[in-house]
Amino acid sequence: MSFLDAKFVQGFIRMANDGWEQGWHERNGGNLSYRVKPKEVEEVKDCMQAGEWEPIGANVPGLAKEYFLVTGSGKYFRNVIINPEDSICMIELDDKGENYRIAWGLVNGGRPTSELPSHLMNHEVKKNQNEKYRVIYHAHTTNIIALTFVLPLKDEVFTRELWEMATECPVVFPDGIGVVPWMVPGGKEIAVATSELMKKYDLAVWAHHGMFAAGEDFDLTFGLMHTAEKSAEILVKMLSMQSNKLQTITPDNFRDLARDFHVTLPERFLYKK
Ligand code: 13P
Ligand code: ZN
Repeated sequence: MSFLDAKFVQGFIRMANDGWEQGWHERNGGNLSYRVKPKEVEEVKDCMQAGEWEPIGANVPGLAKEYFLVTGSGKYFRNVIINPEDSICMIELDDKGENYRIAWGLVNGGRPTSELPSHLMNHEVKKNQNEKYRVIYHAHTTNIIALTFVLPLKDEVFTRELWEMATECPVVFPDGIGVVPWMVPGGKEIAVATSELMKKYDLAVWAHHGMFAAGEDFDLTFGLMHTAEKSAEILVKMLSMQSNKLQTITPDNFRDLARDFHVTLPERFLYKK
């Protein structure tokens, strides 16, 4: 099978293009990674070669010898669909989880996303919790970013405000959403901060920058990003009309919803305002 015909590669390309169409990926903004299943690696093994080992910039022993499909650093999401072999790559990790090498893609040179430390540290946390988690997605979601200038940068506040803006939110992300204060992107420090939040949540906001989402597959991860960003859009619209709500979903409404939809909503998000 040709590399690009593999179903997981097609799913990856479609998700990147969906993100582009949402307007979340100006220039080279955002990045996407997928932890490839062993049987999927097997499907494309004849298309792979072994590049030079390079340091990851983080230690992820829990991901040793795994393969990832990732977007390239400086590559544009809008080009992924028309020129995937130039824009994305498959990487293999060494037996310590300290180095990677390119096995396919980036045919015109380059390296995986500068946020590789964040992606891989998040993958490691999620894999430890639930082997089914395979996708980490970073997008420059406009409305979430706008809110990081006006809401306190607290997990409780972002979670509660997003939950209130769309009834489906507490069902889609019942664990809530974490917030990382502004930090220099691309390094290990922001990767450590984000992966700490990923122990509790599937979503992390990067103040004045964007959002990270984790999930089991492309649909669930894209859907999570989309749901949180849509809720943020409603909040931005509401705040643009007036600063206070005439009515909203109350803590008791959330408790009723939790009962009927069989989700657990932590009480720390249902504080009295
Ligand atoms: P890359 O082009 O290196 O993936 O960086 C884009 C980005 O969004 C950095 O946070
Ligand atoms: Zn970014």
